[in-house]
Amino acid sequence: MHRLYVHPLPIRIWHWLNALGFITMIVTGIQIRYIGLINLLSFRSAVLLHNAIGLVLIGNFFVWFLFYLFSDKIRVYLPELNPMKHFAASFRQMKFYGYGIFKGQPNPHHVSVYHKFNALQSMTYQIVMLLLVPIQFFTGVLLWDVDRFQPAINVLGGLRVVDTVHVLIFIFFAGFIFIHPYLASLGHTWSAHFKAMITGYEEVEDEEA
Ligand code: HEM
Repeated sequence: MHRLYVHPLPIRIWHWLNALGFITMIVTGIQIRYIGLINLLSFRSAVLLHNAIGLVLIGNFFVWFLFYLFSDKIRVYLPELNPMKHFAASFRQMKFYGYGIFKGQPNPHHVSVYHKFNALQSMTYQIVMLLLVPIQFFTGVLLWDVDRFQPAINVLGGLRVVDTVHVLIFIFFAGFIFIHPYLASLGHTWSAHFKAMITGYEEVEDEEA
């Protein structure tokens, strides 16, 4: 086994703060949106906490964004130039998660410093971080002060549209918070990727290094 440094410190700090924040946002979000389903805090405290953590998460997002923007590590996210190759790799990975893994077949993706993610991870993380998270933050800020942001809300089609988009993406994240750790547990041991996101180092087979 070799150890490869794949998750730099700013990414690890961003990630665990983000994970904790998203869990808090989902729990308080359920209390705010589905009145009576859970009652962990008063309604007012749930709203205040949701707003405060939301602002922290927006700031924290820029740790991830600026780190990749100004680092050569952005190469882990650069797309495969040949789309056919990208889709073939994604398909191979889906086949592994849906079938091969249950037959004890090896993971088709081999980790290296600039290829820490497989094609599916790379695509999913970019959709999450560059599309869904920014839309969620933007609609969240609009809903935070509907009077102040009334003109922007109107341009987007009204409060109902903005709120529906925010709730739909919330439902996506409520599912993501279970599926993402499940997929992250499919390393050579169940805890391998979690440990890597804590220490920064991924253990890889000698021939992969
Ligand atoms: C309980 C919550 C979570 C756990 C246990 C968890 C676990 C992990 C692990 C182990 C990795 C390492 C790479 C991998 O194996 O895919 C990772 C990466 C990643 N996670 Fe999470 N995660 C959690 C929540 C979240 C949330 C809420 C988000 C986004 C909203 C998120 C976004 C990401 C992203 C974007 C990466 C790639 C990091 C990079 O750009 O280098 N995670 N996560």
